[in-house]
Amino acid sequence: MHILSIMNHKGGVGKTTTTLNVAAALNESGQRVLLLDLDSQCSASFAMGLSRQELTSSPSIADVLFNDRDVTDTCYHNVWPGIDLVPASIDLAHAGLRLNSENGGLQQLSQALSDRSITETYDTVLLDCPPAISSVTLNALMASTDLLIPTVPSYLSMQGLKSIGEVVSRTRSDYDNTLALSGIALTRIDRHRSMMEDATREIRNHYHRNVFETAIPEDQVVEEAQKRHQSLFTYAPSSKAAKQYRALTGEITQRWANYDAVLGGIQGVTSSSTVSSSLP
Ligand SMILES: Nc1ncnc2c1ncn2[C@@H]1O[C@H](COP(=O)(O)OP(=O)(O)OP(=O)(O)O)[C@@H](O)[C@H]1O
Ligand SMILES: [Mg+2]
Repeated sequence: MHILSIMNHKGGVGKTTTTLNVAAALNESGQRVLLLDLDSQCSASFAMGLSRQELTSSPSIADVLFNDRDVTDTCYHNVWPGIDLVPASIDLAHAGLRLNSENGGLQQLSQALSDRSITETYDTVLLDCPPAISSVTLNALMASTDLLIPTVPSYLSMQGLKSIGEVVSRTRSDYDNTLALSGIALTRIDRHRSMMEDATREIRNHYHRNVFETAIPEDQVVEEAQKRHQSLFTYAPSSKAAKQYRALTGEITQRWANYDAVLGGIQGVTSSSTVSSSLP
């Protein structure tokens, strides 16, 4: 089972959009997917169609993190076909006060996801991270086997990528945690903005193969699909954005298949493709 964090502390770079559409594309290819919404904004939960009322009255990921509740008790099944969702909650905003390294709080999610009810049910778990480096993000990194970093190409996003590299290296060395970089995904590409082309070139030159070949275009169908609580594959299946998200998911699974086969699983990956070495 792969546990993939979709993370970037920069806001609005397409983390939630990527999580939703990679989840839908993985399901199209036959995978059973669990999506965890870790952001107190609840964007993924809203986009999948949960109401404000449901989000305030039902158990959420906050119960897993703060109250030792089982993931399966907080899960909505088949919210989208073949995709289960653990919704977020505004309570996550207080996570910093409740989860810390002294009380073992950074391993809460890791423990919850190692339960057989999860490992034997799902092929992939996707974690939609909040736009912050916080105790929730650290929980996600500790629980994950893989990391995907969506980024809008710009000068400042280069600085952000370096900061993520530092946080991940520190997490790995301080907690003996293993995490492989699936890749950096360039998102929201607007071909009318020439500065973006320069930044794209710079990111590709610096991070080489760690950047997915597939880039996601800026496309208004993305927001329309979210408003209608659908994935791009049901709302606008022939759009450029849908095509690119399908291609991106193909690249992700290809990379997983390559390193699972060649290196015999995640233990091997850490020796050659660690985040710390990939994001200097
Ligand atoms: N490729 C795209 N084309 C057009 N709009 C997009 C695209 N990707 C994302 N958006 C829109 O941009 C906004 C931010 O996207 P999204 O919520 O996916 O980013 P995020 O990184 O998860 O944000 P946050 O940091 O707040 O969690 C949303 O309104 C979304 O609909
Ligand atoms: Mg988001």
